[in-house]
Amino acid sequence: MAGDDLKKLADRAVADIAAVKDVDALEAARVRYLGRREGALSEATKRIATLPAKEKPAYSAAVNEAKARIEAALDERAAALREAALGRELAAEREDMTLPPRRVRVGRLHPISQTVREVSRICATLGFETIEGPEIEWDYYNFEALNIPPGHPAREKWQTLWISNPLGDDPSRPMLGRTHTSPMQIRVMEKRRPPIRVVIPGRCYRYEATDAIRESIFFQYEGLAIDEKLTMADLKGVLYSFARQVFGGDRKVRFRPDYFPFTEPSAEIAFSCMICEGRDPECHTCGGDGWIEAAGCGMVHPDVLRRVGYDPSRYQGFAWGGGIERLAMLRTGAPDIRLFYQNDLRFLEQF
Ligand code: PHE
Repeated sequence: MAGDDLKKLADRAVADIAAVKDVDALEAARVRYLGRREGALSEATKRIATLPAKEKPAYSAAVNEAKARIEAALDERAAALREAALGRELAAEREDMTLPPRRVRVGRLHPISQTVREVSRICATLGFETIEGPEIEWDYYNFEALNIPPGHPAREKWQTLWISNPLGDDPSRPMLGRTHTSPMQIRVMEKRRPPIRVVIPGRCYRYEATDAIRESIFFQYEGLAIDEKLTMADLKGVLYSFARQVFGGDRKVRFRPDYFPFTEPSAEIAFSCMICEGRDPECHTCGGDGWIEAAGCGMVHPDVLRRVGYDPSRYQGFAWGGGIERLAMLRTGAPDIRLFYQNDLRFLEQF
């Protein structure tokens, strides 16, 4: 094959390859032109060896050029075929605009979180700042500093989950899951000077069997106000206002004497039962008496004030604390506290 014929062969091959429709045909073309045995160029390549020395360089160059052109054509076509195949795949995958859209599921806050935020919001309108504190407490803050020394019968009121200290137990400093948010009264008073107005929502723990109104892990909130010249009238005013904002005007509020070691005098607040309105003696929510105890409260005990270094003749204060779940039950009408912790979307989605 002369140099001219080689050029023609390459022209033909390039045109041929450009017209190939798929990868199989492309491979066939590669074999046809470059294949070692029967390829059109292999004969020309073999011929190089038989040529006189002076013809070799020119002829070899022509062979190489033809080969390079054919290889380039093969590469180009392979790339074009790959591109086309990708295009077809993408076209097949394209969205079907006639499909109905997937439903967007919007999450929401858990009803207990909603209630915590509602308590914070209402307390903010009354001038109370929301803060948080530790769920794992020292006996000192949970009990002793609140006038409940070891052996005091009032400890029975708070069934305690004791915790072993990962740093090593010290019998003089027992650790527990806080049984109420009241230890934060002490922590706040230790850190700040009056006037103080704070509300502390948070998780609490009790060693207790559960029923419709009790859980062993639950939420409380604690309000604390300390200032000069605060009286029981301030406490009642704040709590009536709080109750009206939480439940609206039609829930009845009962305020009656109670006992807590860290407040004196102490009182208990109850709201009229929203499930039976006092009409069902078998009511699971109020136990049949028509009232749900919602909070304990009182004037901060002078000994508690003294313990944190406040002079009780100058500063007085009041505190109140209650269960968040009870408020949530009153707000939502949920008949059983356990519903809040079963993670059943049919229940949770209602709020
Ligand atoms: N911590 C008390 C309880 O858990 C409630 C309380 C709070 C009482 C503040 C008085 C003042 O029962």
